[in-house]
Amino acid sequence: MYLEHFGLNDAPFRLTPNLAYLYEDSSQAAASTMVKTALDQGAGFIKVTGEVGLGKTLLCRRLLADLTTPYLTAWLPDPHVSPGTLRAALARDLGVALPSRPSQQEVHHRLHHHLTALVAAGRKPVLLIDEAQALSDSALETVRLLTNLETERSKLLQVILLGQPELDQRLASPRFRQLRQRIVYSCQLEPLDRPAVGLYLAHRLAEAGCDRPLFSAAAIAAIAKASAGTPRLVNVLADKSLLAAYGCGKDRVCRAEVRRAIADTEATRDTLGGPWWQPTARMAGFGLVAFGVFLALETWLGGGG
Ligand SMILES: Nc1ncnc2c1ncn2[C@@H]1O[C@H](COP(=O)(O)OP(=O)(O)O)[C@@H](O)[C@H]1O
Ligand SMILES: [Mg+2]
Repeated sequence: MYLEHFGLNDAPFRLTPNLAYLYEDSSQAAASTMVKTALDQGAGFIKVTGEVGLGKTLLCRRLLADLTTPYLTAWLPDPHVSPGTLRAALARDLGVALPSRPSQQEVHHRLHHHLTALVAAGRKPVLLIDEAQALSDSALETVRLLTNLETERSKLLQVILLGQPELDQRLASPRFRQLRQRIVYSCQLEPLDRPAVGLYLAHRLAEAGCDRPLFSAAAIAAIAKASAGTPRLVNVLADKSLLAAYGCGKDRVCRAEVRRAIADTEATRDTLGGPWWQPTARMAGFGLVAFGVFLALETWLGGGG
């Protein structure tokens, strides 16, 4: 691998959301602050939307780490669950003791009882749901009913929904009118801008043990453009560019390596509308064909004359 070659002690651009590599860009910071303020205000529902790869799962992990006592968190990473499984998962995360085959009513009753006791003891139970756009209608309705539980003074459960923009389309449906009305706090994760991409790359490299600038300014500009500032794509392109530079025995990444990474990355077709080299390659290909035809014609005419 290229780690030793570049003096790195860890792979800097892995795709798993790892808090050790968190770069505090303005959008992440704003979202984290908004969520904490909203929780503090006692909001029942809080919503964070963002396109794929912008850092929703990372934000989730960060909140799980940051929300210490009095908060008590439960996390639903996979929303493809029935209402029953959702309730059971929440109960398990919050430490509710359940009999072996509880009825739905039983789970709901015990959950209510446990949440009441927690809140009475000064705790603040919070449920985080990642990929919330994929919740079924019935699961979403179950979540709404759970946040209906309250004492005279506060909610028994606060819910943070994190999801792709499709979540807004789901909530726009008339059947979620009530739920929509209760989402007072929401925000949207934004892509990194061009300077932030440079800082993001440098931050991850430094975390992995390399303080030397491994990417030229032109390389950073090319990554920023091809990724449209989406951190996951930045990671993919940075990793492939480092590999390309390593393959050529170079000690840093220049635009040429990024071009190779882009050509090798399907997802940049969405951001660039096709790999950057496609028009160039097409023109070069056309030029070659034209030249070949010209040579063939000349040989033929020459031979004939
Ligand atoms: N602010 C950030 N700092 C560091 N890494 C980030 C940041 N935002 C996103 N990433 C990285 O980008 C990748 C995609 O993030 P992820 O949370 O999985 O996105 P999403 O859940 O929105 O699809 C992960 O590798 C994650 O670590
Ligand atoms: Mg995610």
